[in-house]
Amino acid sequence: MRKVLAVILIMCAFASMTYIVSKSIGDYQRNVNKNKYAIGESFYQQKCATCHLTNGEGVQDLYPPLQSSDFLRNDKARIINVLLQGISGHMIVNGKSYNGVMHPVSGTDKELSELLNYIYAQFGNGEYEFTPEEIAVFRELHSNHSSN
Ligand code: HEC
Repeated sequence: MRKVLAVILIMCAFASMTYIVSKSIGDYQRNVNKNKYAIGESFYQQKCATCHLTNGEGVQDLYPPLQSSDFLRNDKARIINVLLQGISGHMIVNGKSYNGVMHPVSGTDKELSELLNYIYAQFGNGEYEFTPEEIAVFRELHSNHSSN
């Protein structure tokens, strides 16, 4: 009988240890993710959320969604161009039609790449990673283009 009790006690101790360890790993992971996207998130909330809303769902007929947007999922270059050049005219996002104007977004290469990493990772748009160098390449392309 004592042996059985001892085994049960050991199992309980083991279970609670596993629980504590996995909980702190989870907390740690959440903090890492939070810090990883902190710059992108605050940039988004300041510069995009007024129109596309805090969670990226957009506003029907006015502002297309950035949340699970088929426009974003299918093309990595397209969103960089939208940020650097703005976009206007008729477009279809997730089967709904929009016809508005969005101005170019000002920000450093680092801010824009962090912003895009946030939008892709947190709004369910896929696994793309953006770097400041990539943004710089697109900026360069546009500046050559407009000076010709
Ligand atoms: C003043 C309102 C406004 C703000 C602020 C704004 N947008 Fe937009 N955005 C629009 C409109 C309107 C369109 C649709 C343009 C069209 O119909 O051609 C659009 C379209 C887009 C699209 C392409 C369609 C889609 O949903 O995938 C992306 C990507 C986008 N915006 C990202 C952003 C990001 C990122 C920011 C913040 C840096 C931002 N926008 C800030 C109004 C805004």
